[in-house]
Amino acid sequence: MRGKFITLEGIDGAGKSTHHAWLVDFLKRQGKDVVATREPGGTALGEKLRALLLSEPMHLETEALLMFAARREHLDKLILPALADGKWVVSDRFTDASYAYQGGGRGLAPEKIMALERWVQEDFQPDITFVFDLPTEIACGRLAKTGAAPDRFERETREFFERVRKAYLQRATVEPDRIKVIDSRLSIPEIEKQLEKIIATY
Ligand code: ADP
Ligand code: TYD
Repeated sequence: MRGKFITLEGIDGAGKSTHHAWLVDFLKRQGKDVVATREPGGTALGEKLRALLLSEPMHLETEALLMFAARREHLDKLILPALADGKWVVSDRFTDASYAYQGGGRGLAPEKIMALERWVQEDFQPDITFVFDLPTEIACGRLAKTGAAPDRFERETREFFERVRKAYLQRATVEPDRIKVIDSRLSIPEIEKQLEKIIATY
């Protein structure tokens, strides 16, 4: 049986990494064979592209093309073989991030992103996508508290993240069956309970 593909999305600082780790552990405790991964990244080449994407200034279309180049590799080398093997794949970000960041944030035309999406993944989509939703000022505050040096995206303006957040919420209204919005203002245990409840229906 094919495994399930779960993706986690949201603006920087919304709690994806925290709940990615929890979700992977939770699924393992349920006896599932789980592969934890992330985008951009997830393969040796993808991680090299990630390092460039998070540090080098570049044209917004170069950025979109490199995101999808890393994704092509990720699908071929990791995601599709793991799912075919019956494994569950949990990815910290996937294509919704391209619509939200390159589309919503940077203003790249959605038709261009759609063309890349069709090229790279045809009609392949995650089974479940969790969008961690948080007001940008709270996300900024949580990120600042971690003390980590901000990357090229994390240095963007509040307005940029407002547009990214709006794009995620807009996608969730169009695809409510796949995309579940999680209120990240809740406590970590409350969010875990919600994730558990949703996963139980799959
Ligand atoms: P992301 O991966 O989306 O950038 P993180 O998971 O790294 O976000 O979370 C950013 C910070 O916020 C971390 O310090 C984390 O411990 C904290 N955090 C995550 N979820 C919550 C929550 N529900 N309530 C309070 N703090 C949280
Ligand atoms: P992120 O998972 O947030 O890394 P970290 O939590 O370690 O900082 O991802 C890195 C950045 O990549 C993030 O700011 C969003 C951006 N990104 C895009 O702009 N488009 C995409 O398609 C993807 C997958 C990520």
